[in-house]
Amino acid sequence: MQKILVARPIFPDVVDRLRAHFEVDWNNGPPLGPDELARRLADKDGALTAGDPIGAAVLAAAPRLRVVANMAVGYNNFDIPAFNAANVLATNTPDVLNESTADFGWALMMAAARRISESERWLRAGEWKGWRHDGFLGVDIYGSTLGIIGMGRIGQALARRARGFGMRVVYHNRSRVAHQIEAELGAEYLSKQMLLQQADHVVLVLPYSRENHHTIGAAELALMKPTATLTNIARGGIVDDAALAEALRDKRIAAAGLDVFEGEPGVHPGLLAVPNVVLTPHIASASETTRRAMANLAADNLMAALSEGPLAGRVPNPINPQVLERTR
Ligand code: GLV
Repeated sequence: MQKILVARPIFPDVVDRLRAHFEVDWNNGPPLGPDELARRLADKDGALTAGDPIGAAVLAAAPRLRVVANMAVGYNNFDIPAFNAANVLATNTPDVLNESTADFGWALMMAAARRISESERWLRAGEWKGWRHDGFLGVDIYGSTLGIIGMGRIGQALARRARGFGMRVVYHNRSRVAHQIEAELGAEYLSKQMLLQQADHVVLVLPYSRENHHTIGAAELALMKPTATLTNIARGGIVDDAALAEALRDKRIAAAGLDVFEGEPGVHPGLLAVPNVVLTPHIASASETTRRAMANLAADNLMAALSEGPLAGRVPNPINPQVLERTR
């Protein structure tokens, strides 16, 4: 029987699905460090991960490994050139999380704009003594300009929701999306600089890469309106969190909503110190239905990649499909 590592706690029924096909080593505890990960992968044919860093050193310690299935759409935890050099297939879980993640982007953006967390903390602290005309004045969503940076599948799902809010939608992306998609979404392409200058609410949904490191830093924050909000549902490292904490402290922008952080689960102390930011622990895709769909899709990818039967070669979401053509 082939052996696999499930590197993280996941839904037990998904582990049971895998147990029907493989001998499963399940880490149902805290994330494994690189040495322990390498040790546990030494005799494995496949692995299911969720954000665990896998690079050349771990792959070199795993001579039998043929596939690593990430339970996430983002895969910046994988060193893909190292996967290619080691002939190991990498897979991810796109699409199944688009709508839940877009819902959450809106929730975070609206919570930041309308000061929901800040006012709730105040209420819970027993500070509410009566209605005030100027209590927790925020910025409007309806009729404002939404600026989406990263117009992939999740960015497009965000844009579709803007129609009900009567918003102008502007976007920036590495490359312009097809004219027909722009027309359907009513979305207008702008340079990053123009988007930052014009948007009332900027939402980040681009994948992390070295080129995207600190896409939003002090210079970009300085371009934004003092009444604008910034929401990051993409990845830590796309925003310079220290620069953002300063901008929020000095009210150079109105508010932010952050689901991802540089060095998470650590959070920059400057962000914890300011009231005008909504902070959530990387839960944008976390509806019951979507997280189950992601876990099952990661399992489907793993099973197809390790199958000798009819599933072989029909891996749903290969990241580096050229590896499928080769043998290890
Ligand atoms: C979550 O962050 C994902 O990439 O799916």
